[in-house]
Amino acid sequence: MNTQSPKRPHLVVLSGAGMSAESGLSTFRDSDGLWAGHDVQEVASIEGWYRDPQCVLDFYNQRRREFVGADPNEGHRLLSRLEDYYRVTIVTQNVDDLHERAGSSRVIHLHGELMKNRSVRDPYTTYPVTPDTSALHVGDMAPDGSQLRPFIVWFGEEVPNMIPAIEATEGADLFVVIGTSLEVYPAAALLGYTRRDCPVFLIDPKPVHSTYRPDLIQIQKGASEGVRELCHRLRQTKEWG
Ligand code: APR
Repeated sequence: MNTQSPKRPHLVVLSGAGMSAESGLSTFRDSDGLWAGHDVQEVASIEGWYRDPQCVLDFYNQRRREFVGADPNEGHRLLSRLEDYYRVTIVTQNVDDLHERAGSSRVIHLHGELMKNRSVRDPYTTYPVTPDTSALHVGDMAPDGSQLRPFIVWFGEEVPNMIPAIEATEGADLFVVIGTSLEVYPAAALLGYTRRDCPVFLIDPKPVHSTYRPDLIQIQKGASEGVRELCHRLRQTKEWG
């Protein structure tokens, strides 16, 4: 049962890899990020999958090994506690489940979920990863008889959850961006759907700009410290709850 009141202000968060950096998971575009050692077109695109599926599977098998032992950080936990005051929707580009494990009750994953599999034939049916299906190989079959693959939205594929994400963004009273370089579309375009009177905060240790909302208020800090400061600012600003 969802106990969040619809009358509370709607706070929408768009999170990216930086949200989970303090949980020990790598970002993509920082100098020590995942794309520094990999060709994104080889390991995370639909064309790469057609060219060399085992190379793509190996990349995600490794991500799953790294994921074991990662726990939510203080930023994830503080966001879940905001549900006491706001109707909160988290739109995340992350494929980890750290928002859910921290207690957030409405999480929209734009780019899939690492700990689920799907078949190549059916993009909508997912299978939880088990010890037997954690490391995937070419030839591992889904119950529908086609090849199993991770439930990840690759470059060149549609982003099926954009519609609920846009609906949430259009209804936001407050929008908070955390730990994303805003370089990947369509996720970065979500800021263009915020109402003009909806304040936009951005939490990131580096300066990040959005042409859609050049007026965004940057809190130039890491996720945990930044969300702590956001909570402090919200407490001081009565009209935001
Ligand atoms: N707290 C907050 N933000 C941080 C932290 C931190 N501790 N450390 C780094 N960051 C910031 C970086 O400064 C950068 O702006 O996180 C951002 C990470 O950006 P990217 O690596 O580009 O990750 P993201 O924006 O999530 O990538 C989007 O691209 O590769 C694809 O599908 C993948 O979902 C991913 C998408």
